Order: sequence, then C-alpha cells, then structure tokens
Amino acid sequence: MPKDAAQFGEVVMLAVSWTLIDDVLAQAGPLDGRIVIDTTNQFGHGGWEDLGGRTAAQINAARMPGARYTKAFNTLTSGFQAQAAGRTGADRVVMFLCGDDEEAKRVVAGLIDDAGFTPVAMGGTADAAAMEAPRRPGAVYGEELHEQEARAFVANLRST
Ligand SMILES: NC(=O)c1ccc[n+]([C@@H]2O[C@H](COP(=O)([O-])OP(=O)(O)OC[C@H]3O[C@@H](n4cnc5c(N)ncnc54)[C@H](OP(=O)(O)O)[C@@H]3O)[C@@H](O)[C@H]2O)c1
Repeated sequence: MPKDAAQFGEVVMLAVSWTLIDDVLAQAGPLDGRIVIDTTNQFGHGGWEDLGGRTAAQINAARMPGARYTKAFNTLTSGFQAQAAGRTGADRVVMFLCGDDEEAKRVVAGLIDDAGFTPVAMGGTADAAAMEAPRRPGAVYGEELHEQEARAFVANLRST
C-alpha cells in the first residue's frame, strides 16, 4: 500500500498512472524528508497533457512539498529496462535523472548504477523537458543513449 511504502522506505518510487498521482500521494501521506523517484509520464485521459510551459517534474515536485524529489526511469519502457539492465562497457545504457536536491540525486544516481545503468543528470526539475514525453527530435525521451552521447547531449543543452 502507498502508506506502507512511504513510511518504510528512505527512498520511495512513484510509479503510477499520471491520472492517479494526486490520489496515490494522498494515500501515501506526508513524504517529508523521503527521497522520491518519480517515474511517471504525463499521459492523461485525453493523451499527452499540455503542461502550460512547466515540466512534469516541476508539477510533480510541487505536489509533494517536503519530499526530496527526483525523476528517473521514465524515458525507457519497462520491458527495455528489464532487457538492457546490466550491460557493460560501451553498451551500458544511460538512465537520465533530474531534481533540485543534489544529495538526493547522488543517492538516486547510485541506485541507477546498482540497477545496471549509467546515471546522467539532466539538471534541475526546470531542465527536465528533454527527458519528458512525447518522443521527438531534440529530446532523449524514448531513446537508448550511451554515456558519451548522453553527456554531449546534456552539455549541448546547457550551452544553448
Ligand atoms: N510501463 C512502462 O514501460 C513505463 C516506462 C516508463 C515510465 N512509465 C510511467 O510510469 C508510471 C507507471 O507505469 P506502469 O506501466 O507501471 O503503470 P501501471 O501498470 O498502470 O500501474 C503501476 C502501479 O499503479 C498501482 N495502482 C493502480 N491503481 C492504484 C490506486 N488506485 N491506488 C494505488 N496504486 C494504484 C498498481 O498497484 P497494484 O499492482 O497494487 O494494483 C501498480 O503497481 C506511469 O506514469 C508511466 O507513464 C511507464
């Protein structure tokens, strides 16, 4: 149950449909001090949601004030993640993450590494658009990237 997970875990993963987030956060109760990994994508009842210029990460971080919000594991399908986890060398797949709490991001980067991917930080929640749906040119959502090209992508994003 969401409340058990929120009370038990130092790190809590939010992995539910976009349309259920408010309900599930209400079930979970306060997440103050908890590191949250948000895996969600903004697919609503009518398709991809228009977020009005904010990122989905900014919207969700604001829904859980007090939580140490991060976003990761959202850019690749679960089936692909299961199949690609643990690759080595140049084949190791990148998992992007973002968040405004640097220490929380360090913890989550470690978990991403443990899960078998190379963590690459996109930046803060305001920088998350490129790792958010839909799949499109100039974004990394839905793309398999490896470390060098992922780091080049982020460096290019920061320079523009
Ligand atoms: N699937 C993917 O490939 C993928 C990849 C990247 C990101 N995402 C994103 O990750 C999120 C989760 O995706 P998913 O495919 O895992 O979704 P999902 O199969 O619809 O459901 C995930 C979880 O939601 C829980 N849930 C459903 N209704 C609930 C309720 N009323 N209260 C509390 N929990 C409830 C389910 O718990 P029970 O098992 O206990 O019913 C289930 O564990 C989505 O936002 C999606 O866009 C998905």
